[in-house]
Amino acid sequence: MGFRTHTCNDLGLANLDQTVTLCGWVNSSRNLGGMLFIDLRDREGITQLVIDPAATPEVFEAAKPVREEWVLQATGVVHARPENMINAKRATGAIEVAVSGLKILNQAAPMPYNLEDPAASDDMKLKYRYLDMRRSGLLKTLKLRHQITQVMRNVFDQEGFIEVETPILTKSTPEGARDYLVPSRMKVGGFYALPQSPQQYKQLLMVGGVEKYFQIARCFRDEDLRADRQPEFTQIDLEMSFVDELDVQNVTEKLLAAVMKDVKGIDVQLPFPRMTWKDAMTQYGSDKPDTRFGMLMHNVSGLFASSTFKPFQSILAENGTIEAMNGKGLAAATSRKAIDQLTESAKQLGAKGLVTLKVDDAGNLGGPAAKFLTPEETAALKTELDAQPGDLLLLVADISFRVACFALGRVRLDLAAANNLIPEEKFNFLWITEFPLFDWDFEEKRWVAEHHPFTRPMEEDLPLLQTEPGKVRARAYDIILNGVELGGGSIRIHEPSLQATMFHTLGISDESARHRFGHLLDAFSYGAPPHGGLALGHDRLVMLLTGMKSIRDTIAFPKTAKAACLMMDSPSTDVDPKQLQELNLAITGEVQE
Ligand code: AMO
Repeated sequence: MGFRTHTCNDLGLANLDQTVTLCGWVNSSRNLGGMLFIDLRDREGITQLVIDPAATPEVFEAAKPVREEWVLQATGVVHARPENMINAKRATGAIEVAVSGLKILNQAAPMPYNLEDPAASDDMKLKYRYLDMRRSGLLKTLKLRHQITQVMRNVFDQEGFIEVETPILTKSTPEGARDYLVPSRMKVGGFYALPQSPQQYKQLLMVGGVEKYFQIARCFRDEDLRADRQPEFTQIDLEMSFVDELDVQNVTEKLLAAVMKDVKGIDVQLPFPRMTWKDAMTQYGSDKPDTRFGMLMHNVSGLFASSTFKPFQSILAENGTIEAMNGKGLAAATSRKAIDQLTESAKQLGAKGLVTLKVDDAGNLGGPAAKFLTPEETAALKTELDAQPGDLLLLVADISFRVACFALGRVRLDLAAANNLIPEEKFNFLWITEFPLFDWDFEEKRWVAEHHPFTRPMEEDLPLLQTEPGKVRARAYDIILNGVELGGGSIRIHEPSLQATMFHTLGISDESARHRFGHLLDAFSYGAPPHGGLALGHDRLVMLLTGMKSIRDTIAFPKTAKAACLMMDSPSTDVDPKQLQELNLAITGEVQE
């Protein structure tokens, strides 16, 4: 016989009078009327053990010192619990095991914090992640993570994909973040970069003839962390040859539909809706719109063409844009303080301010800016936004289209959240298409790739590549779920000449391109097939399917907002000077303990 006959979630009335052996941790132990009751917990559940000193005095003696989280092996007979002791909330709540043999497999020191205290500090829970794991919902989440990859692996296999691992010690692949560097011992001054994604490798696999690749891939990005960003995270990464956008999107939809069915029991409708980037920006103020609720934005620049309201006037004179939105019926519910908070949100995204107008019972507009609008402008705005008494109108004007849209889009989300307008039970998948190929970096005054520099321009926009890069659309697509960017991909460039032009527009010199991406340019010159792909953020998918607020709760051993692991105490300054010497490295700054 092995260590155990059943898990702590298996036994019920069907097992009455059977002799069983269970293993697990002491969830709790109490002495009631001279009898010892121990709740034994394993990964699957909890079973109550009962130890009667009259029947088994030696077991009772052995069990006396047992404390919380000790590890036990218990053998005994399954008994029905008395009627009034049945615990209907527990799968094993109708029975208990009368213990006749007990082995203490291990003891446990007193717990460093109360494992069941919801107010326990995050730092403690992260430092003792393996303890947090035992009782919180984390184990369930890890199981679900596994279930999702399992379902996906099956779909990939059915569709003819091959799982290929790509290196972790590699060279920089720009995905818009800083690289993590690893110094080389063999080559003085040489550094590997950890992959921000397997992007170049998967393209090289296509050149190698793999045709359909996937990988559950580790990615590393040294970027500012947020609830949906970790420095190391997992992608469900895929690449295909001889395909267009629809082929990649169809496979992605199959993967997600299978997961939704298996994990949630939900039949999602295929194909997912599509929206162009331009429409997403102008209507939702976001390139990852949350379509679970309305409150759409309108471009109202045209209504204010001859406005004398200074902020509007100066912005329109500079070819800027004015975006507006109707918070239906929200005038009364939105206090002065709430408006200040919304304004702050808009400003954080670069807006100069937020114009708010409340529609009173008589249909007149109130608010600091109301008196600067002509009766014609007021009437036109009310018509455009279908403004009724009790509505709250919100406007952002900015010289940058993106700033105006993003800022009002943020306000839309904040306002909806504050007024509980977002139906949490919905799962709205959506494709965003026709992204711009480039974005203008105001600080560095140069074009940067909206996705990455291997993304293919739309063929009809190719002539604009050299003349008006800002107008070139990409054959890129993002998959959005409930306002979160779940994944992104594109059809790629596969010709060396077009790839060189792309690098050129990005301000990467021929020499630098050769240096950084020579391997790719070379590969493209040896018969690269047309190809494209996509990567889904696995952690984000798990987060959305479990209703978690942060991807940290979906990862076994996550990092803090400062990219530290409190459990291992990494990054560590405890490095042997000999190691540094071997790597030809010296610390020049002050060491932070
Ligand atoms: P992209 O950079 O859009 O594309 O990444 C794909 C998906 O990965 C997830 N993701 C992250 N998840 C957690 N923490 C992070 N720091 C983080 N960064 C990204 C997101 C995102 O949508 N090589 C391309 C894909 C391709 O073109 O095929 C890529 O990496 O869910």
